[in-house]
This record gives sequence, structure tokens and C-alpha cells, in this order.
Amino acid sequence: MKFFIDTANLDQIREAQALGILDGVTTNPSLMAKEGITGKENIINHYRAICEIVDGDVSAEVIATDFEGMIQEGEALASLNPQIVVKIPMIKDGIKACKYFSEKGIKTNVTLIFSSGQALLAAKAGATYMSPFVGRLDDISTDGLGLISEIRLIYDNYGFKTQILAASVRHTMHIMDCAKIGADVITGPLSAIEGLLKHPLTDIGLAQFLSDYKKGN
Ligand code: E4P
Repeated sequence: MKFFIDTANLDQIREAQALGILDGVTTNPSLMAKEGITGKENIINHYRAICEIVDGDVSAEVIATDFEGMIQEGEALASLNPQIVVKIPMIKDGIKACKYFSEKGIKTNVTLIFSSGQALLAAKAGATYMSPFVGRLDDISTDGLGLISEIRLIYDNYGFKTQILAASVRHTMHIMDCAKIGADVITGPLSAIEGLLKHPLTDIGLAQFLSDYKKGN
């Protein structure tokens, strides 16, 4: 199971990388804006900076929504670094673009997936990754994890190689549920990943060990 961090914040990316368990980064235009990264040149430089920090795949989202525009933007992004994965919206031209990139050997991440039908199309178009948004479905009282299970079943039925990248993961339990279902990747905030570290019995046990050590030394 791969762990991606879902942020454009360089400090958090460094912190996750330093943990030694980070496999990649996902970003989107909203995450870039949150960090105050605006303008084409600054965004490109930010992707370069992220690629310098991490070893794994870095999703970079196209802004164009037409086929030609996505191809132009996606090829420019992919040429920045072999780590770049071109992130494409789940729309008609996005599927065409995904097929084009897959034939050219350029990695893709089809984003904004909210149904298993969309997931099936992304796999048929040869996507490297596809991103169902677990948290945003939960937000509207729809079963986000149920969607991950459905997609796992469909992909296993046909042996699709497209990786299920569970996105919009908001907390530690989402990560553990995705692990049980068999999502290939999760992407979420550092807080959700670090939540996996925590157990009160670990803290109590460690405090006891240290205090017992002090008694004898
Ligand atoms: C996916 O790649 C998106 O960047 C992201 O996971 C969306 O998460 P959110 O619903 O918390 O904004």
C-alpha cells in the first residue's frame, strides 16, 4: 500500500518524507492556492521543488478542460520530471487525454471520481491511478468507502492494472478502512498519516519502561 501526502505545503512534505514512509504527493489547484502559489511559472517551480523533496510520484493537475489543451499542458508538466503524474479531470476529453498519455507512456491520475462507472472508464483508458474522493462522498451522506470496495471488486474481476488512489482521505480510520478494502494508495493530510502512530498503551508502556530503567540506573 502506498502513502501519498495531499498537500502543496513544502514543510509538511519534508516532514512526511523524513518519516521514511512517503511514496508520493498529490496536489490540486485548491491546495496550490492555499499555499499562495499562483501563476503558471510559480506553479511549475513549485512542482520542481516538490520533486526535489520526494522520491515518488507527484500528481500535477492540468487546468485545461479541452483535449488539445490537456495534451499541451500535460506534456509540458510530464517533461519537468519523470516523477510527474499528469492529473486529469474525469470528463469526456479527460478520458481521451488519458488514453493518449497512456499510449505515450506518460503516467496519469484521473481525478474527481465519484462512481464506479467513472472508475471503469478510467481503467479502460489506461490510467495509472484513479482518484475516488472518499471524504467528499461522506460529506454528502454517501458511502465513500463503499465506492472503494465496488471499484476493487470491478478491477479484480478484470485484472485492471489501474491503481485505486483513495483520495479525500480525511482521518486515520479512512486509511485503515482503505487498507482493509485493498486500495492501492491513499492520499491524505499529514495528520491522518501521523494518527497511525498513536496508541495510549504505547505511551503508558514506554513511560513505565523508562521509569523502571531509571530505578535501576
Ligand atoms: C485528490 O487528489 C485531492 O487532492 C484531494 O484528496 C481532495 O481532498 P479534499 O476533499 O479533502 O479536498
